[in-house]
Amino acid sequence: MKLDELTKEFIKLYGQSGEEIFTFFAPGRVNLIGEHTDYNNGYVLPCAISFGTYLLARKNNGNTLRLSTSNFEYSADISLAELSNKHEEQWVNYPLGVIQQFYKRGKAIGGLDLYFSGNIPAGAGLSSSASIELVTAVALNELYECGFDMPELIDLSREAEHEFIGVQCGIMDQFIVGKGRRDAALFLNCATRKFVHVPFAKGKYRLLIADTKKIRKLSDSKYNERVAECQQGLRIIQKTRHISSLGELSLETFHEIEHIIEDPVIRKRLKHVVSENRRVLDAVKALMNNKFEEFGKLMNLSHDSLRDDYEVTGFELDTMVEISRKQQGVLGSRMTGAGFGGCTVSLVESDSIENFIKNVEAEYLDKTGLKPEFYLPEIVGGAGKVSSS
Ligand code: GLA
Repeated sequence: MKLDELTKEFIKLYGQSGEEIFTFFAPGRVNLIGEHTDYNNGYVLPCAISFGTYLLARKNNGNTLRLSTSNFEYSADISLAELSNKHEEQWVNYPLGVIQQFYKRGKAIGGLDLYFSGNIPAGAGLSSSASIELVTAVALNELYECGFDMPELIDLSREAEHEFIGVQCGIMDQFIVGKGRRDAALFLNCATRKFVHVPFAKGKYRLLIADTKKIRKLSDSKYNERVAECQQGLRIIQKTRHISSLGELSLETFHEIEHIIEDPVIRKRLKHVVSENRRVLDAVKALMNNKFEEFGKLMNLSHDSLRDDYEVTGFELDTMVEISRKQQGVLGSRMTGAGFGGCTVSLVESDSIENFIKNVEAEYLDKTGLKPEFYLPEIVGGAGKVSSS
């Protein structure tokens, strides 16, 4: 829906008032490499994408939060006194969680009319949740003149996810959604929060996202289990090395001491994290030197490690990647996001995209019985105000 249509719809839903309607946008994200490294204080390399969430917001001077979405028939009126009750509609819990974080920081958020409109498929691993969180956070910050900077909005959105949603996620998704830049990937050190934008303009190669249509929900997936396994592995390593996170462990040191980890499952989990961290550094170097073939190979190695050592891929993702890698003009293909379903990202020659989609769609459907969907995103900037109307 276009912005002026959204505004009309907003007025139809909530009526006219003297208060101004503000419009905000937060992108989704695709991670290029560095998967399951963020909560281990390692490196990541995501991009913000043109699929995202619009939010039209206006103060209503009452004690109620009125929420609705253009995506499906839905609206809710929630009393501000009841914000801490979990809502049965999962997406509503993201704004509720964020508002509570503003309260926690002493900000008096009053009644609001909120109208969301998003085009990121839910549960596909493209961070629809961080997108809703950040779009809410920038809106509250603006409407109530809270004065938080983007790092604070990123942190409080992640806290909302931990405390209200119950997913022990790392910082990657909220960070890229808040700090993305047009035509650039974001190379982030999750331990120090230092980052640089690495140019990734569309040219000979494009990023192509393929949705396996195997839906997963992080809250009931094995995500928190993997977080716990990493913590268990870290405690074993700490018996011989002074490190505070797995991100500090080099691949060489890991190989020297891996024998002390008796449990083969924990050993594999750590191997993934430590080797993936190295791959991010190599990938950034490759990208900076326009070595796209090298970059593609690292994407492939990343997927293989997530499949064999971290065990977060599954039949649909592996099938999609296997078919994608066979296509002409493909330099690399891997799952993106948490895994367990959702999307893959492939680095594909621009001229080969049409054929890629045709061939992959047919073979994937044949092998899985699922009709995939493809997205060719633009790489865009982070969350913010769009305009006022
Ligand atoms: C999810 C989490 C992120 C990150 C990825 C895996 O998207 O929200 O913090 O851990 O999975 O890399």
